[in-house]
Amino acid sequence: MQTNLFPVLKYSGVIAAMLFMNACLPDQNDGPGSSDPDLKTSKSGAKKAATADFGKTKAGEPTEIYTLKNKNGLIAKVSTFGATLVELHIPDKDGNFVDVLNGFDDVSGYEGEDNQYFGCTTGRVCNRIAKGKFTLDGKEYTLATNNDPNHLHGGGDKALSKQVWKAVPVVGQAAVAFTLTSPDGEEGYPGNLSMKVIYTLTDDNELRIDYNATTDKATPVNLTNHAYFNLGGAGSGNVLNHELTLNADNYTPTDETLIPTGKVESVEGTPLDFRKAHAIGERIPDKDVTKTDDCKTATLGYDHNFVINGWGRSHGEDLLFAARLKDPKSGRVMEIHTDQPGIQFYSGNFLKAQKGKGDKTYPFRGAVCLETQHFPDSVNHGNFPSTILKPGETYKTTTVHKFSAE
Ligand code: BGC
Repeated sequence: MQTNLFPVLKYSGVIAAMLFMNACLPDQNDGPGSSDPDLKTSKSGAKKAATADFGKTKAGEPTEIYTLKNKNGLIAKVSTFGATLVELHIPDKDGNFVDVLNGFDDVSGYEGEDNQYFGCTTGRVCNRIAKGKFTLDGKEYTLATNNDPNHLHGGGDKALSKQVWKAVPVVGQAAVAFTLTSPDGEEGYPGNLSMKVIYTLTDDNELRIDYNATTDKATPVNLTNHAYFNLGGAGSGNVLNHELTLNADNYTPTDETLIPTGKVESVEGTPLDFRKAHAIGERIPDKDVTKTDDCKTATLGYDHNFVINGWGRSHGEDLLFAARLKDPKSGRVMEIHTDQPGIQFYSGNFLKAQKGKGDKTYPFRGAVCLETQHFPDSVNHGNFPSTILKPGETYKTTTVHKFSAE
């Protein structure tokens, strides 16, 4: 079945777009009257993100890691390198905490070959752009084809995941804001793009990620977080027993290079139907599914963009339920709500038993990514929700991960 177009545009122009975002971030002494509405701070709260050294990059730049804690003992750690989510400690049904994220002990791991975008802020445009080309306002742009023959996750050395962001702890909340301005032409993208990513750990056991961006030239923007979750504990084996629910009747089939064909098709009768919970390993496509008709993507395993039900209707109002992941053994549950139209479900098919934090090993399918985003290669598909941000508009999106145990 082919479903049709999305009438609602992703971005709305607001006056805040005129502000240069770095200039309006509060410092640690800011009071409740901060000029930035996203960063309301309070002197009353003792809460403040603690900071530590995360090592120097190969280029000699210092990096830091911030610790966020909530009243229930949950801990998230985020680094200035790639505005990356490094650790997330959550309890099981008996109250035992483990770190559920793939990652490395310091920045050298994140700069090394074993890093497959672990926990990073991914962009300027996450996922693929066909052959690294797009045309905007009559001009053709050429980007790095770092995932031959396509552009992947923002390109080369200046992809957002490989840059050192500026951090501002948000006083009074377990929250840190990261900012970065990517100059016009960086990685081939037009426009000076000023970005802000805020991580907040709430007392309701939610990890909330808010993204913000403005530009001075029209440019595609599609930001996501690339966390790899294993709710049994990162490095504790594969995730084939994890039960997944996706609020998606449809997905976007691709060609053999994982570029969408432009169609939107039903999951009905395919191994992509997660409208009711299924174990990831139950029907995992383990053959070259381009040769079959049942789920048209050239990947061994899951690596598919799902269309979140209801996006066109409620866009701009509420966050929609996108996904629920449960590890039946530990009872840990993660629910994801977002305002994005799509979610990329990637079952860690390229994990290669690399070593990570504390000498843990991350095996094939040892973690799952659930990346909320606009559809891959949207810039080349007029029928997909637009990813073009224009001067005077503000890119603004939110994803919330809620944790519990049962
Ligand atoms: C993509 C995969 C890719 C992986 C890289 C995911 O977002 O969907 O195709 O291999 O990122 O880590």
